[in-house]
Amino acid sequence: MPQTEDILRAAKLIREGKLVAFPTETVYGLGANALDAEAVARIFELKERPSFDPLIVHIANPGDLNVLGKHPDPRCFLLAEKFWPGPLTMVVPKSDIVPDIVTSGLETVGIRMPANETALELIRAAACPIAAPSANKFGLLSPTTAQHVKKQLPGVDCILDGGPTGIGIESTVISLNHKGFEILRHGFITREDIEKYIPFYAMPAAEKTNIVSPGMLKSHYSPGKPIYIQGDYVPEDLQREKAALLSFSGNDSQGFAMVYRLTSSDDLREYAVKLFSALHQLEDEDIEAIVAEPVPMHGIGIAIMDKLKKAAHRYRNDD
Ligand code: TXA
Ligand code: MG
Repeated sequence: MPQTEDILRAAKLIREGKLVAFPTETVYGLGANALDAEAVARIFELKERPSFDPLIVHIANPGDLNVLGKHPDPRCFLLAEKFWPGPLTMVVPKSDIVPDIVTSGLETVGIRMPANETALELIRAAACPIAAPSANKFGLLSPTTAQHVKKQLPGVDCILDGGPTGIGIESTVISLNHKGFEILRHGFITREDIEKYIPFYAMPAAEKTNIVSPGMLKSHYSPGKPIYIQGDYVPEDLQREKAALLSFSGNDSQGFAMVYRLTSSDDLREYAVKLFSALHQLEDEDIEAIVAEPVPMHGIGIAIMDKLKKAAHRYRNDD
């Protein structure tokens, strides 16, 4: 775990406009002072991230919702009380102190308070909110260890190594509307978790202004090898002896070069926690393709299938 002096050194770098990769409970983030537009620009550069994809701003005190958000809806504070620190990002109208580059020009900003002591200490020591996307090259796998960050972003100024992240799947991104909340990106906290407090209401497209969530891009999270989903699209000539199976049930695993079974007890949360690190390992294995068995579409299974479909999208032959 990073020592206090490592964190203080990293905080100083943040204050100087540098980039620091740090652990959160979900994945590693690539952080910069959220109020320093030039520092934030370096995030886009280093990640090779298109500038239309807004960043999440990390805070260490729920009260900062009032500083970064413009008159945030009172329901945000209820959700903050229930889920923060934790993997829930709320998109709220932004205040003027948030530079446009953070939000890709949107009038809204995504905010969350991570449940990771190193992250919180870093934000407190830097004394500024920290804008941080996942610390990977755009479109590639999200990092769940400091080594993953080093592999993809050797140019980062500093990496705080807090060991493997506990959750391993990104935060759920939501926004509020007049009737309830909607999910802009599926993540560790499920629709059912949030519905305990406020209703789910997906606004019909006609009522929407211009909310875009690049978390909804079709192709994302790709490992460096073709990945296919059973029952969706698997090439007819796939050679199982050169492929790995990402198995959920343990069934139909005959002939594969290797089988990764992420949970032995149908536990979707355990599967979600291990998914990205398994894909990182499979990227390095001597195989030509990955075949994933679909998981049940309930609870966090929806977020898992969302990630798998995005990873598989470019290898489908239908469009
Ligand atoms: O768990 C996480 O959320 C990780 C850790 C580091 O906190 N961060 C993360 O950031 O996954 P990133 O940049 O990879 O994903 C941010 C996503 C955007 O792609 C978009 O879907 C959504 O958050 N987002 C951020 N600000 C938004 C806004 N103003 N409106 C709509 N969506 C927004
Ligand atoms: Mg990301």
